[in-house]
Amino acid sequence: MKSYYIYTYGCQMNVHESEKLAGILESKGYEHAECVESADVVVFNTCCIRESAEQKILGNIGAIKPIKKKRKDMIVAVCGCMSQQKDMAANLRKKFPFIDIVFGANNVEFFGEYLDTYLEQKKFLNKVENDKQYIENASGVPFVRDNPLYAYVNIMYGCNNFCTYCIVPYVRGREKSRAPNEIYAEVKNLLNLGYKVITLLGQNVNSYGLDGSTGGVNFAKLLETIANFDGEFELRFMTSHPKDLSDEVISVIAKNDKISKSLHLPVQAGSNKILKAMNRSYTKEDYLLLVNKIRAAMPNITLSTDIIVGFPGESDEDYAETVDLIKKVRYHNAFIFMYSKRRGTIAEKMDNQVPLTVKRERIHNLLEIQHKISEELFTEMVNSTQRVLIEEEDLKYYRGKAQSGKVVLIEKSQKMLVGKFYDIKILSYEKGNLIGRI
Ligand code: 5AD
Ligand code: SF4
Repeated sequence: MKSYYIYTYGCQMNVHESEKLAGILESKGYEHAECVESADVVVFNTCCIRESAEQKILGNIGAIKPIKKKRKDMIVAVCGCMSQQKDMAANLRKKFPFIDIVFGANNVEFFGEYLDTYLEQKKFLNKVENDKQYIENASGVPFVRDNPLYAYVNIMYGCNNFCTYCIVPYVRGREKSRAPNEIYAEVKNLLNLGYKVITLLGQNVNSYGLDGSTGGVNFAKLLETIANFDGEFELRFMTSHPKDLSDEVISVIAKNDKISKSLHLPVQAGSNKILKAMNRSYTKEDYLLLVNKIRAAMPNITLSTDIIVGFPGESDEDYAETVDLIKKVRYHNAFIFMYSKRRGTIAEKMDNQVPLTVKRERIHNLLEIQHKISEELFTEMVNSTQRVLIEEEDLKYYRGKAQSGKVVLIEKSQKMLVGKFYDIKILSYEKGNLIGRI
């Protein structure tokens, strides 16, 4: 039997698209290879959000060269956001002449056809198409999902926001919402198959339906409809742009037990000058008001965020505003990045770029501050009751995750079932894990 190996980089969207690539390959009779050396088809599903991601990917593609030298019939394909960039397909091929197929972020569905064409012609195939819109399930092939409990469901593709640092709108194109009935059918099917946590995916889920393609169904309506489906499950979503998080959505989250009380709300920066330069369309004060509103409706919600340090023009005073903001909000978790210049974005042309040493200093400092806040908040969870999905058991503990995504280890005082939710009393917080008992 022929086999495949997929390298996946970047966000949940890519993880989910790799599940589609696996589905396509398995429908063609390929099986998952134990290691890349033995695979007949190797796919790199790439990311270009930061330069560090691209460097890592280029290194990993380069490492295939000696393997391909020994195994001339191995097929190497590169797809995803990095390959979607202007002239990238040709550049990749020049750098790595052993690449056989390059295709873009929006034509994952057609990989099966590309593979057939390649096998027929045995000639380099460049299938990056700039005006292509992502089409879900054009191939009619199901996703091969890795995890039996957690499932991703796309609700929209692309982004219209053009935050000035971000390359996503250039590689993923404009926002396009999926039809609600398709989404409902997919979620129902996943629930029937026993999936317990459904995560709705989109670059900016709050603008679901604003393209006018969903017959008036907006994100609040979509969430509420799914939350009313039968069965025991948890509904999550990402990512939510603060400028578009409506009162209606907040109220739907608050009212429905099945919707996770954990929200990812990327703030990016704390200084109004920088937020404006980033084109985020809100101020620090707007954001703090929004957080207050969310917490007034759901006092126990856990919040997480994304932050960029060292955006062009960020002074010490601007950075201090970010520090102030994370101290005020007190996120359970923050993903902190150094600004990375991306080709074709507006911020690329800004002339007041921040030196790497300053960016490094700021990221270390901010990570330290955030770590302390996270530790305090998780310690405060001791004595609370958390709803936990049991994922596995070992000799000493059942292991699961709370809604905040935090691992919970549960003493084996009584029989529990993997794949079920339990209310767990948190007894302690040790070495990054919550320890609890049913
Ligand atoms: N440099 C650094 N971080 C970036 N992000 C997006 N573009 C860049 C960039 N050019 C971060 C943002 C976004 C997350 C997914 O990646 O914080 O929310
Ligand atoms: Fe990038 Fe901004 Fe769109 Fe998020 S909302 S994908 S950061 S442009």
